[in-house]
Amino acid sequence: MHKKLLIPGPTEVSQEMLNEQTHFLIGHREKEFSDLYGGITAKIANFFELPPDCKPTITTSSGTLWFDIIGRSIVKQKALVCVNGAFSQRCAQTIKACGKETDVLEVEMGKAIKPEMVAERLAGGNYDTLTVCHNETSTGVRSPIAEIGKMVHKEHSDIIFAVDAVSSMAGDKTLPSEFNCDIIFGSSQKCFALPPGLAIGLVNDRVIERAKQIPNRGAYTDLVDIFEFEKKHQTPFTPNVSLLYALNRRMDLLLEETYDKVYQRHKDMANYTQQWARKHFAMFPEPGYESITVSCIQNTQNKNVKDLNQKLAEKGYMISGGYGKFADKTFRIGHMGEWNLQGIKEVIGLIDSIWGLQ
Ligand SMILES: Cc1ncc(COP(=O)(O)O)c(C=O)c1O
Repeated sequence: MHKKLLIPGPTEVSQEMLNEQTHFLIGHREKEFSDLYGGITAKIANFFELPPDCKPTITTSSGTLWFDIIGRSIVKQKALVCVNGAFSQRCAQTIKACGKETDVLEVEMGKAIKPEMVAERLAGGNYDTLTVCHNETSTGVRSPIAEIGKMVHKEHSDIIFAVDAVSSMAGDKTLPSEFNCDIIFGSSQKCFALPPGLAIGLVNDRVIERAKQIPNRGAYTDLVDIFEFEKKHQTPFTPNVSLLYALNRRMDLLLEETYDKVYQRHKDMANYTQQWARKHFAMFPEPGYESITVSCIQNTQNKNVKDLNQKLAEKGYMISGGYGKFADKTFRIGHMGEWNLQGIKEVIGLIDSIWGLQ
């Protein structure tokens, strides 16, 4: 029996999606490939309601490549990176490692990034790029991106606003038009409920124009090159064709379910999990900023999560401990991708009986 994953990525992948990857291979310079790839990007554009100046692309990589793309192809001189957890921290380190000046707006773990904080730092800072993580997977915090985007759009329209939606895209609401962002990206192994290996980026024309002005964009991280190939419905380098077949099917399923229902399903799972967490423990994120794809719970009863996972494994499930320095103080339940409320209720019922919670 395999363990069904309720960790915040990789998440559970259905047999149907695994089977989709068993197609015979095709050449990635063939028409058959362009038909497949162009079909997927059209479905992505439809699902995320992309305006004509915003285009999707799919990289054969995990989401982290997009930190490098920002560092190499988007930041001209100086970025403001908002840090409220381990992944946004990594974003800051990566942009710096690409040789770009990087200022950090850091808030305590468990707290969200708020528009007024960002506005204060942007004023007079001479930044050309801003990055914020929508859903900090390490702490289960969801930052108010639409409010930040509104402020940036109004007061700093020259700044490129990049959003890490690795663990929220295709689960939570992440429409570029509602976020007023210029670039947003997610990973296949999270809410898309596929194996790791693809990242989905939604990028507006302003970003590509910016990229054209930037020297030393690298090869795999060259956004101009990526979008030159997009014109032919191709990728610059050999893509993971097998995973693209699975993504094609996933986009069909997401479109069938509809954007609003996908969001509502995730919200229902989060509400149930978080009500349960508040009854027996406490939520880690500051109130009002809880993620709807991963619940990060303070382990106020000092329960043994490793022991719980061993018992859950016997029933075919796995949840997650905390991240980094909060490894023992928190635990996380990922409710993203193919999960639904019924499944979450069953697993929480099992946790209740294992831990003797009533
Ligand atoms: C919010 C966030 N950003 C970035 C990453 C890195 O993405 P990947 O593991 O796909 O490289 C993760 C991974 O968990 C994440 O949760």
